[in-house]
Amino acid sequence: MLYGADYNPDQWPEEVWDEDVRLMREAGVNIVSLGIFAWSRIQPAEDVWDFDWLDTVIGKLHAGGISVNLATATASPPPWVSKNHPETLPADESGASYWPGSRQHFAPSSPTYRRLAGELVRRLAERYAHHPAVVMWHVGNEFGCHLWMDFSDAARDAYRAWLEKKHTTVDALNDAWGTSFWSQRYGSFEEIFPPRLAPYSHNPSSMLDWRRFTSDMLLECYLLEREILLAAGVTQPITTNFMGPFKPADYRRWAPHMDVIADDCYPDPSDPHRIRDAAFQRDLVRSLKPGVPWLLWEQATDAVNWRPANPGKRPGALVAETAQSIARGADGIMFFQWRQSRAGSEKFHSAMLPHAGTETRTWNAVTELGARLAALPELPAPGRDAQVALVFDWENWWAVEERDHPTEIDYLALVLEWYGGFHSRGIQVDIVGPEEVDRAYDLVVAPALYLLRDDGAAAITRFVEDGGTLLTGPFSDIVDARDQFRDGGFVTQLGPVLGLRFEDFGALPGASAGGSGIGALTAGPSPAAPSGGGVTFTLGGQPRTGRLVAESVHPAGATVVASFDSGLRAGAPALTRHRFGTGEAWYVATQPDADGVDAVVATVVAASGARPVVDGLPEGVEAARRGDLVTLINHGETAVEVAVTGTDAESGLAVERVVLDTQGVAFLFVPAVAAAEPEAPAAQDAVTVV
Ligand code: GLA
Repeated sequence: MLYGADYNPDQWPEEVWDEDVRLMREAGVNIVSLGIFAWSRIQPAEDVWDFDWLDTVIGKLHAGGISVNLATATASPPPWVSKNHPETLPADESGASYWPGSRQHFAPSSPTYRRLAGELVRRLAERYAHHPAVVMWHVGNEFGCHLWMDFSDAARDAYRAWLEKKHTTVDALNDAWGTSFWSQRYGSFEEIFPPRLAPYSHNPSSMLDWRRFTSDMLLECYLLEREILLAAGVTQPITTNFMGPFKPADYRRWAPHMDVIADDCYPDPSDPHRIRDAAFQRDLVRSLKPGVPWLLWEQATDAVNWRPANPGKRPGALVAETAQSIARGADGIMFFQWRQSRAGSEKFHSAMLPHAGTETRTWNAVTELGARLAALPELPAPGRDAQVALVFDWENWWAVEERDHPTEIDYLALVLEWYGGFHSRGIQVDIVGPEEVDRAYDLVVAPALYLLRDDGAAAITRFVEDGGTLLTGPFSDIVDARDQFRDGGFVTQLGPVLGLRFEDFGALPGASAGGSGIGALTAGPSPAAPSGGGVTFTLGGQPRTGRLVAESVHPAGATVVASFDSGLRAGAPALTRHRFGTGEAWYVATQPDADGVDAVVATVVAASGARPVVDGLPEGVEAARRGDLVTLINHGETAVEVAVTGTDAESGLAVERVVLDTQGVAFLFVPAVAAAEPEAPAAQDAVTVV
């Protein structure tokens, strides 16, 4: 188990470095991410290089038995870069420059930035590729974190080249973007600009390509550095740090180029959904590289500095949050950062070593955690442990949140609501792209899959045909990969699977959603909740509220399980099921509220045979499996007892029940058992209204 932090010795005089190493050893630190923001120290001027200090630090760490994840230091160009090469600066939507003085002030597509960054990486790689302390390479840092889009002239030029490579001819682009609309037909690629500030909505198909381009430019920066590292003889694993469900970068396209997935996760202590959302994030990053443990590359020991209010963690939460990562596949636990800064924007951010020193609650928590992790036996790699897959797709995210739709949908919020229906039951979930759906899963949930690529549709169809259970819902299978309607209406790909014909959307009044990113989504009331309007349907004997839309769908072979009780669609199907091949497909024609989601999940889980990791979990207890390891975490306020038979991974003792204090954690070896038999599917001619 790797244990450590970002280490920024360049912020401190050399006298402190020996104490750092000594205290790192005391805390159980075995690795640090070194020099992430050290470009200006390594290259203080364009033709001046200084590696002596880095040699010294790496030498001290090595002598202390601490490994180095060496950063390429390209995330924050020094002031001389901006002064000598203003063409490296990014621009906002109106074309105005972003200026230096913070960090990440570079245009990802700038050839000059890439040349300067490349030179830095080459020199670092040639110097340290074979250093025995260096066990990993950390490229850039959180690509795109602050700069979601760059509209600079460098981006303009790169965008035109990217579009030409993709579409080959301008006629093909016109066709893909539907530019006959609003007189947008292009005569050449030179006529195309980034989607800078315009009087009204940009062409949605162009926005989709722009998002793809933006993600690709960031990925190109990563790949450029990776290739330089490899060319210089680097053999250690190469990675960069992800940010979970981060909208600008399609991490599924990045994952094959990462030797190991590393992720940064900062649950908001005041967010009531933080456990669910962090679990989703960890399942997402695990699923990006199946079978390979991932690394939690940054978390906070206590408070952060960048939310409007920054409360610390409750006692024990550090262990509970760490355990959640391990439970869901992590083999490394790292923090931002080792020693709290004494200057700069992050001086109020917690660290492993607080500014207040070692006689602190934080230091005690950090050293105790280090000792506990060091004592863990070797853990199994995460396998295909989930019976349920939830489809989450970046291109769909970009497309479904474009403007001018029947209603605004906050895709991530909606996905998290469905995920929550499984998380609260202790049912393990993988997070997959539509093309990754296969019969290793018993149940697949695909919420709001508005943009459905042909290959994704084929994989989902095969899955049901081969005996899987599908649950999908409103605003799915509406457009192709260009964000254009297909011929033949809506739900053209999955209609036969669902046994439905789709007529129209039936947007409900008052529904609107905003926000982006996990924190923004969950800070207040559910953003998918309407401020007015809504429909009801009855499921499990209870009335349920539907939000956003009440679609008009007509059974074409499907059985109606529940109908709308109110609104314009009263009497029309709200939930249907359909036998297709040897499997079954469910469709919910509205977005239910939290209770409704729970009721639909309960119904579909029973039909699919998907089981929780541990039966009979008390409220507030989270369970997750990686191979034979089952982790139990009590997020509740009181102690609980859980009946489970296995071997305690820490003590080696056999157990039949465990008692967990609030925030208590148990790591147990419990062999997996086979899935339960699903309930018999409904006969096709029966109409059941539950
Ligand atoms: C990100 C960055 C770090 C630091 C932390 C603070 O994760 O990668 O450099 O700014 O946020 O939480």
